Amino acid sequence: MANIAVLSLNPALDVTYKIQKLVDDEKIHSFETRFDPGGNGINVSRAFKRLNVRAATCCVLAGKIGTLISDILKNELDDPHFIWEDGETRINCVIQQSEPVSQYEINGMGPSMGFSILDKLEKDLYLYSKEGYAVLTGSPPLNLTSDIYNILCTRLSNAGIKCLVDADGSLLSSAVKSKPFIIKPNIHELERLVKRNLTSNLEIASVAADIYNSGIEYVFISLGHKGAMLASKEGIFYASAPEVPVVSRVGAGDSMVAGILSVIANGGGSEDALRLGIACGSGTVQMPGTELFTMELVNGLIDRIKIERINLPGR
Ligand SMILES: Nc1ncnc2c1ncn2[C@@H]1O[C@H](COP(=O)(O)OP(=O)(O)OP(=O)(O)O)[C@@H](O)[C@H]1O
Ligand SMILES: [Mg+2]
Repeated sequence: MANIAVLSLNPALDVTYKIQKLVDDEKIHSFETRFDPGGNGINVSRAFKRLNVRAATCCVLAGKIGTLISDILKNELDDPHFIWEDGETRINCVIQQSEPVSQYEINGMGPSMGFSILDKLEKDLYLYSKEGYAVLTGSPPLNLTSDIYNILCTRLSNAGIKCLVDADGSLLSSAVKSKPFIIKPNIHELERLVKRNLTSNLEIASVAADIYNSGIEYVFISLGHKGAMLASKEGIFYASAPEVPVVSRVGAGDSMVAGILSVIANGGGSEDALRLGIACGSGTVQMPGTELFTMELVNGLIDRIKIERINLPGR
């Protein structure tokens, strides 16, 4: 298996309160509280561990909240490399109300990242992804500019490291210019990237093929409960997601990223990568909070995923 390193620029402690109802000017008691490590990079690394794929996590933590996160993650990551900075790692808060059912989310800001810290992180990323793969995912601290993944991907690619980018908005539109090896936008992120609505599978397939032709080797588009599309040198493939009971969608995309890369980094083909990616995502939506798939769930889903090849008219 090739080296894999996952970057986590802006992790968080996720606190989830379950309450009956928010009331103005009244103190509400939660009847259930969860503390989970958060941030896309952390989730991707946790998913790799479940898949029994060793991946390094290059992550910045700060203060007492950072210490708490590193404790919680003790058994969840194979190869963590924490860099400590001043300040406090952010806390994200989710309030799940039951009457009426609704969810409120407040994300903390996290510390600004000093350039010496960014430099150390980048060095770790090179070291642990050597001749292999680097995963660039999630939103960076506010003081970094939105071309951060473009800059990192350009430098890593020049050093022979293949990048997987999973990001949104200007982070993604800037990153694609550096031709990452793999991208995995969801349908909304793809629509923002190409600045138009995509309503049919043929339209999505055609856009994925155009992006592949621009020099990105694997273009995975995740489509939530509708499954996923892939354009690669082997062709264009679509698979629907298995119908499963959905408990929490948190981490579905991150699980898919780990599933996809664990196949590709092991020399596997497009169809197997798509199949395992979908099984991991659809496994995770069945778990509460930020809990991820189990291999038992994934193994039960794999054979239910049927892949079809898409032929674009006139191409
Ligand atoms: N309702 C669902 N039922 C079954 N599978 C699902 C459902 N939602 C998501 N999935 C699975 O998870 C995969 C990734 O989902 P999605 O497209 O929502 O990713 P995402 O938007 O990037 O997620 P995230 O919010 O974690 O970033 C899908 O391709 C599918 O396999
Ligand atoms: Mg996503």
